[in-house]
Amino acid sequence: MGIAVNRAGDTFHLYNQEISYIMKVLPNHQMGQIYFGKRIQIPEDCSYFLETSSRPMSSCVFDTDNRFSMEHIRQEYGVFGTSDYRMPATEVLQENGSRISEFCFREYRIQAGKPKLPGLPATYVENEEEAETLVIRLADPVTGLELELFYTIFAAGGILARNARFVNRGEQALHLQSAMSLCLDLPDSGYDMIQFSGAWARERYPKTRRLEQGIQSVGSIRGNSSHNHNPFMILKRPTADEFQGEAIGFSLIYSGNFLAQVEVDTYDTARVLLGIHPHCFDWKLDPSEEFQTPEAVMVYTDQGLNHLSQTFHRLYQKRLARGYWRDRVRPILINNWEATYFDFTEDKLVEIAEKARECGVELFVLDDGWFGKRCGEQAGLGDWVANPDRLKNGITGLARRIEDLGMKFGLWFEPEMVNKDSDLYREHPDWIIQAPGRRNSHGRYQYVLDFSRKEVVDRIYEMMDKILSEAKVSYIKWDMNRSITECYSAALPPDRQGEVYHRYILGVYDLYERLTSKFPQVLFESCASGGGRFDPGMLYYAPQCWTSDDSDAVERIKIQYGTSYCYPVSSMGTHVSVVPNHQINRITPLDTRANVAYFGTFGYELDLNTLTADEQEEVKGQIAFMKQYRQLFQFGTFYRLQSPFEHNTSAWMVVSEDRKEAIVGWYRVLNGVNLPYTRLRLKGLTEDLPYRVNGGRDIHYGSELMNAGLITTDASSGQAQGNEKMCRDFESRLYILKADQGDKQESDVFKTGKLLYNSIR
Ligand code: DGJ
Repeated sequence: MGIAVNRAGDTFHLYNQEISYIMKVLPNHQMGQIYFGKRIQIPEDCSYFLETSSRPMSSCVFDTDNRFSMEHIRQEYGVFGTSDYRMPATEVLQENGSRISEFCFREYRIQAGKPKLPGLPATYVENEEEAETLVIRLADPVTGLELELFYTIFAAGGILARNARFVNRGEQALHLQSAMSLCLDLPDSGYDMIQFSGAWARERYPKTRRLEQGIQSVGSIRGNSSHNHNPFMILKRPTADEFQGEAIGFSLIYSGNFLAQVEVDTYDTARVLLGIHPHCFDWKLDPSEEFQTPEAVMVYTDQGLNHLSQTFHRLYQKRLARGYWRDRVRPILINNWEATYFDFTEDKLVEIAEKARECGVELFVLDDGWFGKRCGEQAGLGDWVANPDRLKNGITGLARRIEDLGMKFGLWFEPEMVNKDSDLYREHPDWIIQAPGRRNSHGRYQYVLDFSRKEVVDRIYEMMDKILSEAKVSYIKWDMNRSITECYSAALPPDRQGEVYHRYILGVYDLYERLTSKFPQVLFESCASGGGRFDPGMLYYAPQCWTSDDSDAVERIKIQYGTSYCYPVSSMGTHVSVVPNHQINRITPLDTRANVAYFGTFGYELDLNTLTADEQEEVKGQIAFMKQYRQLFQFGTFYRLQSPFEHNTSAWMVVSEDRKEAIVGWYRVLNGVNLPYTRLRLKGLTEDLPYRVNGGRDIHYGSELMNAGLITTDASSGQAQGNEKMCRDFESRLYILKADQGDKQESDVFKTGKLLYNSIR
């Protein structure tokens, strides 16, 4: 890893073993983009990369040169108004009404490691050898606005992290009307764009389209990153797939409004922009004030999408997530939401916990409904004090009863929200986000507290702090169930209203930071009606996120598969729930529900007392199995093998770091009759290592399993009689692979009984 600067001091090459990122000061002193991709070597002068020719209808920069146009040159941080007609990375409104700016190179500095981003989540290093950072300082000579572009190259992986910082060194007030975290001009547009889109309960489905001339984008202007689109996209070569080929991933470490955009111009270059959505963004910079953009991360690979994802997984698992839980396997939990909804008493909760404990569950989570007058959706949010009618001994008493059972206790909050029927709202009706003279739209009868105001965040902090200080709470589920409307803050002047969305998110981060610092051993799980804020910003504070409110196993295969393109298994909250499923009414087998949920943090979302004795035994087996293998599930290397978006059967697998253990999850939605013979080609194994599959007597070499494949043929197909177990819809199997250690004993995986099948031979 290193950052090389040529003798002229105008060309910068950030590199590690996998990638090169090269940029150069242009003749007009703006920064030009030379190259991003697989590691290359270049000569001192690489101006020829930026060669332009005279084009009709072009506007040119220099009086005596009809070739040099910003329209045709690849830039580091494109601006509008000086001959570039693509969408800019920033737009600065000045007192005289002009929006034109030009950022000219002033100096650079290189620093070991990676600086923190004030008030914002970001990737980090644990020692200075892990990364190096280049800061390019530029300034607009007319306004005096300074722009610093930060580039961090990590020693390991094809990763480059970027952000931008503005400082108003001039004398007039300026308005940043857009300030993207990343601008990357690629020399051609021969890419497919993959976005991760959907809706509540069907989040992060990969959707692919060919880049075309014009603008293609996804984003959110809802105030949260959203169920609808994720702040992540991939550009891949059309021939690239999961296992080979070139791709670049773009991820924004942010939880609010965002824009991810690619603009293909007339000459087929592609400009990528990623950052806070410019719509409604207007940040006033008085003289000496600064603005810091969120961080954007780019990952390049020439080894396919699995490799791209694995690079993100490692980075986000080890150098974005923080704290006590970062490297620890996660407790197996039971959550009462789908078991009781709002209808519970303390004794009922303890009953659920007791059965869960008997089955081996480690953490009981009390969901919505324990505070204020919250017996339904219309009241109570904002009053974070236990309801004595429901919990006679308060949270402290309930937590004690749960701890006495030998379990940990967890609690649900929705800190950012208030119901009008609450003491907090009655006391401070002006604390919600609302526009003067306009009606307030609601979502689930709730209103958004104005977290851009410190006094509001302080008050919520006090209430949460009191509960966490008094009761033994080991886990918090932080929910957020509506998007922002009528965005306006009573605390800000008219010319700062464009700051509210971002200041709101800064307030959310501030509350997270205060709570996680004061209670470092509490495990936080973020949630926003399920996956409405599954983004890297949240992962900085909460290492796991409730992936989706859809807990149906078949639906979850798609949701978890799509989520895995950017986010690690250890970040996905996954639960086994009842059938018929509460979102889709589908009945799936209990083992299939677990076989999907194992690839996540794992837990239960039901009252285990309602299961039959046989099912309870099965649950005990599942929990024992997960305890044995959760290190591998949550921290192994994850491979997508077969997509549920393309096939009736799908598969994924995890492989241990030493490649001696692996678990394959195989799923089939609908059964079929007299099906073809099938094999699944595995990944990530050691070629010449012999493996046993599910403790079988035969050995199979890694090379065999990865090339000839693992036999997955269903022997009973078309012969349902006497083979019911093997012949059904919503079938799933786990294959546990262990490198043969010369031990001929029956493997312990068989002790889990119904969960596993013999490989069929
Ligand atoms: C939405 C969450 O996603 C659910 O799991 C549950 O916590 C409810 N909110 C509670 O209101």
